[in-house]
Amino acid sequence: MGKDETLIAAIGAVSANGMIGLDGWLPWDIPEELAYFERTVAGAALVVGRLTYESMDVVPVDTFVVSHHEDLVLRPGCVRVESVVDGLRAALRTGKPVFVIGGASVYAAAWPYCQRFYLTRIAGEFAGDSAFPSNIPLDQWAVVADTTRSLPELSTGRPVDCRFMVYSQAEPLPVPDHG
Ligand SMILES: NC(=O)c1ccc[n+]([C@@H]2O[C@H](COP(=O)([O-])OP(=O)(O)OC[C@H]3O[C@@H](n4cnc5c(N)ncnc54)[C@H](OP(=O)(O)O)[C@@H]3O)[C@@H](O)[C@H]2O)c1
Repeated sequence: MGKDETLIAAIGAVSANGMIGLDGWLPWDIPEELAYFERTVAGAALVVGRLTYESMDVVPVDTFVVSHHEDLVLRPGCVRVESVVDGLRAALRTGKPVFVIGGASVYAAAWPYCQRFYLTRIAGEFAGDSAFPSNIPLDQWAVVADTTRSLPELSTGRPVDCRFMVYSQAEPLPVPDHG
Protein backbone atom coordinates (compact mmCIF):
# COMPACT_ATOMS: atom_id res chain seq x y z
CA MET A 1 0.00 0.00 0.00
CA GLY A 2 1.41 3.42 -0.93
CA LYS A 3 1.74 6.02 1.80
CA ASP A 4 -1.15 8.09 0.47
CA GLU A 5 -3.60 5.23 0.31
CA THR A 6 -6.37 5.06 2.86
CA LEU A 7 -7.05 1.78 4.59
CA ILE A 8 -10.18 -0.01 3.46
CA ALA A 9 -11.36 -2.68 5.84
CA ALA A 10 -14.46 -4.79 6.29
CA ILE A 11 -15.93 -5.84 9.61
CA GLY A 12 -18.52 -8.44 10.53
CA ALA A 13 -19.43 -11.35 12.75
CA VAL A 14 -20.45 -14.84 11.70
CA SER A 15 -21.80 -17.85 13.57
CA ALA A 16 -20.40 -21.36 13.35
CA ASN A 17 -23.14 -22.21 10.82
CA GLY A 18 -22.33 -19.20 8.61
CA MET A 19 -25.13 -16.82 9.61
CA ILE A 20 -24.82 -13.04 9.92
CA GLY A 21 -28.43 -11.84 10.18
CA LEU A 22 -31.94 -12.73 11.31
CA ASP A 23 -35.12 -10.70 10.82
CA GLY A 24 -33.18 -7.54 9.97
CA TRP A 25 -30.92 -7.74 12.99
CA LEU A 26 -28.19 -9.98 14.39
CA PRO A 27 -28.95 -13.64 15.17
CA TRP A 28 -27.40 -13.27 18.63
CA ASP A 29 -27.35 -10.76 21.46
CA ILE A 30 -23.72 -10.24 22.52
CA PRO A 31 -23.37 -6.66 23.79
CA GLU A 32 -19.59 -6.85 24.09
CA GLU A 33 -19.24 -7.96 20.48
CA LEU A 34 -21.41 -5.04 19.38
CA ALA A 35 -19.29 -2.69 21.49
CA TYR A 36 -16.17 -4.04 19.75
CA PHE A 37 -17.77 -3.26 16.39
CA GLU A 38 -18.65 0.28 17.49
CA ARG A 39 -15.17 0.92 18.89
CA THR A 40 -13.47 -0.41 15.78
CA VAL A 41 -15.43 1.68 13.27
CA ALA A 42 -15.52 4.88 15.36
CA GLY A 43 -14.46 7.87 13.25
CA ALA A 44 -14.46 5.93 9.97
CA ALA A 45 -16.46 6.46 6.80
CA LEU A 46 -18.84 3.52 6.38
CA VAL A 47 -20.10 1.65 3.33
CA VAL A 48 -23.29 -0.24 4.07
CA GLY A 49 -26.19 -2.00 2.35
CA ARG A 50 -29.61 -0.41 2.61
CA LEU A 51 -31.11 -3.12 4.86
CA THR A 52 -28.24 -3.00 7.34
CA TYR A 53 -28.44 0.81 7.35
CA GLU A 54 -32.15 0.62 8.19
CA SER A 55 -31.39 -1.73 11.10
CA MET A 56 -29.00 0.74 12.74
CA ASP A 57 -30.18 3.00 15.58
CA VAL A 58 -27.28 5.38 15.25
CA VAL A 59 -25.58 6.13 11.96
CA PRO A 60 -22.46 8.31 11.90
CA VAL A 61 -21.77 11.03 9.35
CA ASP A 62 -20.02 9.89 6.20
CA THR A 63 -22.09 6.75 5.88
CA PHE A 64 -22.54 5.70 2.25
CA VAL A 65 -25.64 3.59 1.73
CA VAL A 66 -25.75 1.28 -1.27
CA SER A 67 -29.21 1.22 -2.82
CA HIS A 68 -30.85 1.19 -6.24
CA HIS A 69 -33.66 3.43 -4.93
CA GLU A 70 -33.02 6.96 -6.22
CA ASP A 71 -35.68 8.45 -3.95
CA LEU A 72 -34.30 6.90 -0.77
CA VAL A 73 -34.51 9.39 2.12
CA LEU A 74 -31.57 9.10 4.48
CA ARG A 75 -30.57 10.54 7.82
CA PRO A 76 -28.31 13.63 7.91
CA GLY A 77 -24.70 12.90 7.02
CA CYS A 78 -25.63 9.83 4.96
CA VAL A 79 -25.38 9.60 1.18
CA ARG A 80 -26.94 7.08 -1.21
CA VAL A 81 -24.60 5.42 -3.70
CA GLU A 82 -25.48 3.28 -6.72
CA SER A 83 -22.91 0.56 -6.19
CA VAL A 84 -20.40 -0.74 -3.70
CA VAL A 85 -17.51 0.63 -5.77
CA ASP A 86 -19.19 4.07 -5.87
CA GLY A 87 -19.52 3.83 -2.09
CA LEU A 88 -15.85 2.95 -1.63
CA ARG A 89 -14.80 5.79 -3.91
CA ALA A 90 -16.97 8.31 -2.06
CA ALA A 91 -15.84 7.03 1.34
CA LEU A 92 -12.18 7.34 0.32
CA ARG A 93 -12.79 10.98 -0.66
CA THR A 94 -13.59 11.79 2.99
CA GLY A 95 -9.94 11.06 3.89
CA LYS A 96 -11.10 8.89 6.80
CA PRO A 97 -10.39 5.20 7.22
CA VAL A 98 -13.08 3.23 5.38
CA PHE A 99 -15.07 0.35 6.86
CA VAL A 100 -17.40 -1.88 4.90
CA ILE A 101 -20.00 -3.08 7.41
CA GLY A 102 -22.17 -5.42 5.31
CA GLY A 103 -24.55 -7.02 4.68
CA ALA A 104 -23.84 -10.06 2.64
CA SER A 105 -23.89 -8.70 -0.92
CA VAL A 106 -21.88 -5.66 0.14
CA TYR A 107 -19.15 -7.83 1.67
CA ALA A 108 -19.24 -10.00 -1.46
CA ALA A 109 -18.65 -7.01 -3.75
CA ALA A 110 -16.20 -5.10 -1.54
CA TRP A 111 -13.72 -7.74 -0.42
CA PRO A 112 -11.36 -7.48 -3.44
CA TYR A 113 -10.61 -3.86 -2.38
CA CYS A 114 -10.13 -4.53 1.35
CA GLN A 115 -6.75 -4.62 3.04
CA ARG A 116 -8.26 -6.03 6.21
CA PHE A 117 -11.26 -8.09 7.25
CA TYR A 118 -12.19 -7.93 10.92
CA LEU A 119 -14.27 -11.06 11.43
CA THR A 120 -15.59 -12.28 14.75
CA ARG A 121 -16.23 -16.01 14.63
CA ILE A 122 -18.97 -16.88 17.10
CA ALA A 123 -18.66 -20.47 18.24
CA GLY A 124 -22.39 -21.24 18.52
CA GLU A 125 -24.91 -22.14 15.84
CA PHE A 126 -27.70 -19.57 15.43
CA ALA A 127 -30.79 -19.47 13.23
CA GLY A 128 -30.46 -16.86 10.50
CA ASP A 129 -31.78 -15.64 7.16
CA SER A 130 -28.64 -13.89 5.95
CA ALA A 131 -25.42 -15.83 5.39
CA PHE A 132 -21.80 -14.76 5.16
CA PRO A 133 -20.84 -14.92 1.47
CA SER A 134 -18.95 -18.01 0.41
CA ASN A 135 -16.86 -16.23 -2.24
CA ILE A 136 -14.47 -14.43 0.11
CA PRO A 137 -11.17 -16.36 0.15
CA LEU A 138 -10.22 -15.50 3.73
CA ASP A 139 -8.38 -18.80 4.01
CA GLN A 140 -5.81 -17.30 1.62
CA TRP A 141 -5.36 -14.10 3.65
CA ALA A 142 -2.83 -13.72 6.47
CA VAL A 143 -4.21 -13.75 10.02
CA VAL A 144 -2.78 -10.69 11.80
CA ALA A 145 -4.81 -10.88 15.02
CA ASP A 146 -6.62 -13.76 16.68
CA THR A 147 -8.02 -13.47 20.20
CA THR A 148 -10.79 -15.54 21.74
CA ARG A 149 -12.99 -14.31 24.57
CA SER A 150 -15.93 -16.01 26.24
CA LEU A 151 -18.73 -13.43 26.26
CA PRO A 152 -22.30 -13.43 27.58
CA GLU A 153 -24.92 -14.19 24.89
CA LEU A 154 -28.15 -12.81 26.23
CA SER A 155 -30.71 -14.72 24.11
CA THR A 156 -29.46 -18.10 25.38
CA GLY A 157 -28.24 -16.80 28.75
CA ARG A 158 -24.98 -18.66 28.22
CA PRO A 159 -21.46 -17.52 27.42
CA VAL A 160 -20.18 -18.11 23.91
CA ASP A 161 -16.63 -18.11 22.58
CA CYS A 162 -16.03 -15.15 20.27
CA ARG A 163 -12.88 -15.36 18.19
CA PHE A 164 -11.84 -11.86 17.13
CA MET A 165 -9.85 -12.38 13.95
CA VAL A 166 -8.24 -9.84 11.67
CA TYR A 167 -7.28 -11.02 8.21
CA SER A 168 -4.97 -9.14 5.86
CA GLN A 169 -5.11 -9.34 2.08
CA ALA A 170 -1.68 -8.99 0.50
CA GLU A 171 -2.68 -7.30 -2.73
CA PRO A 172 -6.12 -5.75 -2.67
CA LEU A 173 -7.33 -4.27 -5.94
CA PRO A 174 -7.24 -0.49 -6.26
CA VAL A 175 -10.72 1.02 -6.29
CA PRO A 176 -11.42 1.91 -9.95
CA ASP A 177 -11.61 5.64 -10.76
CA HIS A 178 -14.69 5.20 -12.94
CA GLY A 179 -17.50 2.77 -13.57
N1 LIG B 1 -23.21 -10.14 11.53
C1 LIG B 1 -22.79 -9.05 10.92
O1 LIG B 1 -21.62 -8.69 11.01
C2 LIG B 1 -23.74 -8.25 10.08
C3 LIG B 1 -23.27 -7.17 9.33
C4 LIG B 1 -24.18 -6.46 8.53
C5 LIG B 1 -25.50 -6.87 8.49
N2 LIG B 1 -25.90 -7.91 9.24
C6 LIG B 1 -27.29 -8.39 9.18
O2 LIG B 1 -27.52 -8.80 7.84
C7 LIG B 1 -28.87 -8.49 7.48
C8 LIG B 1 -28.90 -7.48 6.33
O3 LIG B 1 -27.99 -7.88 5.36
P1 LIG B 1 -28.44 -8.21 3.87
O4 LIG B 1 -27.29 -8.88 3.24
O5 LIG B 1 -29.75 -8.93 3.92
O6 LIG B 1 -28.74 -6.78 3.28
P2 LIG B 1 -27.81 -5.49 3.02
O7 LIG B 1 -26.60 -5.87 2.24
O8 LIG B 1 -27.60 -4.76 4.28
O9 LIG B 1 -28.78 -4.63 2.13
C9 LIG B 1 -29.20 -5.14 0.90
C10 LIG B 1 -29.63 -3.97 0.07
O10 LIG B 1 -28.50 -3.15 -0.20
C11 LIG B 1 -28.57 -2.69 -1.54
N3 LIG B 1 -27.48 -3.32 -2.27
C12 LIG B 1 -26.70 -4.34 -1.89
N4 LIG B 1 -25.77 -4.60 -2.81
C13 LIG B 1 -25.96 -3.70 -3.80
C14 LIG B 1 -25.30 -3.44 -5.03
N5 LIG B 1 -24.23 -4.17 -5.41
N6 LIG B 1 -25.76 -2.44 -5.81
C15 LIG B 1 -26.80 -1.69 -5.40
N7 LIG B 1 -27.48 -1.88 -4.24
C16 LIG B 1 -27.05 -2.89 -3.45
C17 LIG B 1 -29.92 -3.09 -2.07
O11 LIG B 1 -30.79 -2.05 -1.64
P3 LIG B 1 -32.13 -1.61 -2.44
O12 LIG B 1 -33.09 -2.74 -2.22
O13 LIG B 1 -32.53 -0.33 -1.77
O14 LIG B 1 -31.71 -1.43 -3.88
C18 LIG B 1 -30.20 -4.36 -1.28
O15 LIG B 1 -31.57 -4.69 -1.19
C19 LIG B 1 -29.50 -7.91 8.72
O16 LIG B 1 -30.10 -8.98 9.44
C20 LIG B 1 -28.32 -7.33 9.45
O17 LIG B 1 -28.55 -7.20 10.84
C21 LIG B 1 -25.05 -8.61 10.03
